[in-house]
Amino acid sequence: MNENVGKFEKKKLGKIFLTAPGPTTKQMFSQLLRARKDPAGFLVDMRKKYGNVVQFPLPILPVYLVTHPDDVDRVMRVNAKNYGKRTIQYENLALVTGDGLLAADTDTWKRQRKLIQPAFHHEAIMRVGPDTVLVTDRMLGKWEKLSNNTVVDIDDDMMHSALEIVGRSLFGTDLAGDVEKTAQATLDALDIIVARARTPITFPKWIPTPNNRKLAKALNQLDGAVQRILDERKKMTGVAGFDREVDMLDLLLAAHDEEGGLNSKELRDQIVTFIVAGHETVASSLTWTWWLIGSHPEVQLKLQKEVDEVLKGRAPNVKDLENLSYTKAIVDEALRVFPPGWVVSRRSLEKDELGGYEIPDKAVVIISPWATHRHPDAWKNAESFDPTRFLPDSPTPQKGTYLPFGIGPRMCIGKDFAILESVLMISRIAQKWQLSPAGGEPVPRALVMVRPEGGLPMYINRRS
Ligand code: HEM
Repeated sequence: MNENVGKFEKKKLGKIFLTAPGPTTKQMFSQLLRARKDPAGFLVDMRKKYGNVVQFPLPILPVYLVTHPDDVDRVMRVNAKNYGKRTIQYENLALVTGDGLLAADTDTWKRQRKLIQPAFHHEAIMRVGPDTVLVTDRMLGKWEKLSNNTVVDIDDDMMHSALEIVGRSLFGTDLAGDVEKTAQATLDALDIIVARARTPITFPKWIPTPNNRKLAKALNQLDGAVQRILDERKKMTGVAGFDREVDMLDLLLAAHDEEGGLNSKELRDQIVTFIVAGHETVASSLTWTWWLIGSHPEVQLKLQKEVDEVLKGRAPNVKDLENLSYTKAIVDEALRVFPPGWVVSRRSLEKDELGGYEIPDKAVVIISPWATHRHPDAWKNAESFDPTRFLPDSPTPQKGTYLPFGIGPRMCIGKDFAILESVLMISRIAQKWQLSPAGGEPVPRALVMVRPEGGLPMYINRRS
């Protein structure tokens, strides 16, 4: 144990011990409104006020906020085996995704990750390229019908496009006709997860409260979408790899180990997981990226210069990724300033020590990419948007400082997919269009993802 441990005098609170500094119960109550209105900003404030390890005064459960890069690295990577996912956040998520890869804990997760990983290998995600261009061009076709200086809701456009891309790239389907309803169902389901996480009393799923009824309707829609995806696949007469390319669904259906393949419940859970995890995340990231580009004209000019020089008017493809280094740096930096997944959580299996404080077993540890990306030990001028931090010749970020996709064994399986999709989509739009803010500064609303409150209105203008 570190010698600093003794510096905080342990105190008893209800059934637990307080082992690290943090607000008192009274201080916590006075902050509740702020915590509900702006939870991500609240976590940053907590770090500023109480330090790198903060304990919240809950009398029945030890809950810690850990923000220093070294401690984050320990929880998520170095000592990851000591931290599982049995937390309220992931238990609520499991109401929607079941035991899919994102919410599954330790042993179930290990088997699944091994089975599914090949579906995200380099070659397997190559189809993201043409699908992204096709879907982006479809969206731009709609913009073509609008006159210059029209205001569009970028958040809305990104949400729809991201869902279509996931549907096409992973499951070889347009989710056509279903996009609107499936997008809404995903959002409704996620809203309820947040509502459940924020309410001290939640009713079991079978009691027909308004929220439970909304959840049941959303799950019905998602299950319907999964069924249609599977039915469509059954109808396909061609053999994968012969008259069409292998996609993720083929790989999921073929995945086998000594225990067999994925059963129909496991298959459902994975498909819903990928719709949920691969849709709003990318959309949120693209939306904030456009806000940052639009509000930094010098960045937009450099972006335009790069896409003009590299692409010379043709559509981007996967091979362009390495040459679109400024575009990629914009995406990386936007993910630092506005990480869509602003909070993740873990449960300690055994006692540990973080930042000099004792962390008991069965404690909840909150990690916030949002707060760590704003930690002065992680980034200089953390609040300012500066894509040059991520240019190829810039130093690699120190461990634990950059975690929009998480780090360690539970790191996002869709990272390369998301980066590829984002760079190709941004570059395709920037070839022909210039965007600028049409409203005031957007207010980040941290629910499951961080999205701009009330959407993101932007002017669209043809470049010429
Ligand atoms: C910008 C886009 C994305 C962001 C910011 C993002 C963020 C994250 C984060 C932070 C985690 C780790 C959660 C934790 O440690 O508790 C994660 C895990 C995961 N993500 Fe993503 N994600 C993105 C895109 C995607 C896409 C496109 C897919 C699938 C198509 C996907 C599927 C998953 C899955 C399945 C996991 C769980 C992995 C595991 O535990 O083995 N994500 N993501």
